[in-house]
Amino acid sequence: MQELTPETITGAVLDQMATTSDRRMKEVMAAAVRHLHDFAREVNLTPGEWIKGIEFMTLVGKTCTPARQEFILLSDTLGLSALVNGLHDKTAIEEGTHTSLLGPFYREASPTLAPGSQIARHVKPGTECVLYGKITDVHGKPLAGATVSVWQTSADGLYDIQEDATTTDYRGVFTTDANGLFTIRTVKPRGYSIPMNGPVGSMVRAQGRHGMRPAHIHFLVGAPGYRELVTALYLRDDPHLSDDVVFGSSDDLAVDIVPDDPSCPIPGVPSIRFDLRLSREGEADKTSGRVGSDPSAILKEKAAAS
Ligand code: BEZ
Ligand code: FE
Repeated sequence: MQELTPETITGAVLDQMATTSDRRMKEVMAAAVRHLHDFAREVNLTPGEWIKGIEFMTLVGKTCTPARQEFILLSDTLGLSALVNGLHDKTAIEEGTHTSLLGPFYREASPTLAPGSQIARHVKPGTECVLYGKITDVHGKPLAGATVSVWQTSADGLYDIQEDATTTDYRGVFTTDANGLFTIRTVKPRGYSIPMNGPVGSMVRAQGRHGMRPAHIHFLVGAPGYRELVTALYLRDDPHLSDDVVFGSSDDLAVDIVPDDPSCPIPGVPSIRFDLRLSREGEADKTSGRVGSDPSAILKEKAAAS
């Protein structure tokens, strides 16, 4: 038998995994092992550091609940989620509005609302704003009947489930009119800290980073025959626009709140205009999935599979 050394062990593992019948799994796992071994060799990983890593990942798993997905938060803070979104955008058959993070506060159960509805239950004075825009194809053709799901924080920077786990607030599903337009009443979102009371928060603090996300509003947009778009708008004047802790913000998704936009469908209220362009759906889009999930759906699927 060949003696295994730090130089030869990678080849031995790859040889043993060569019988994997699923071709894509074989490719992904082989690359993962190569990079993992290279990483251990590069930093000369010690046994103490190895166990610290195992303890950290164990804690990340234990922190996951139907309302919290610490592994996704880890992926987000390491820039992996934004990287996979960027790779996903490159596979679109047309270049539409770019993807941004779905985040952990998306909920599949969200109320369907009439055009112009207010998504906040209580609107504090001075915080109201109108969010409107057009959903089009990449050439600017309006898409009637597109589904526009939005969710955001209150004007205090908290999502509904952080304030009260039983109430649905600051979220809704709208449908575009014959001209591809959507109109939503809401409140100005505020920048906020990602959940810092778990292992990912400890990591972020140990790295001397702040945990802040710039103020934003999430979008999940769908229309038959078009690629699903998960994205967000970001308020341009937020001090964390260029150092988002989860690398989701970018200049092309930045918008202003305009005090008196004459084109706003609801006059006299500060407004945000955000137009989104959808790529036609390609064959690969039917199975590519999305970066992010309602945390309860992950646990539900797991329970059903076991
Ligand atoms: C969010 O935008 O909701 C979010 C994204 C990543 C991590 C935490 C929050
Ligand atoms: Fe968010």
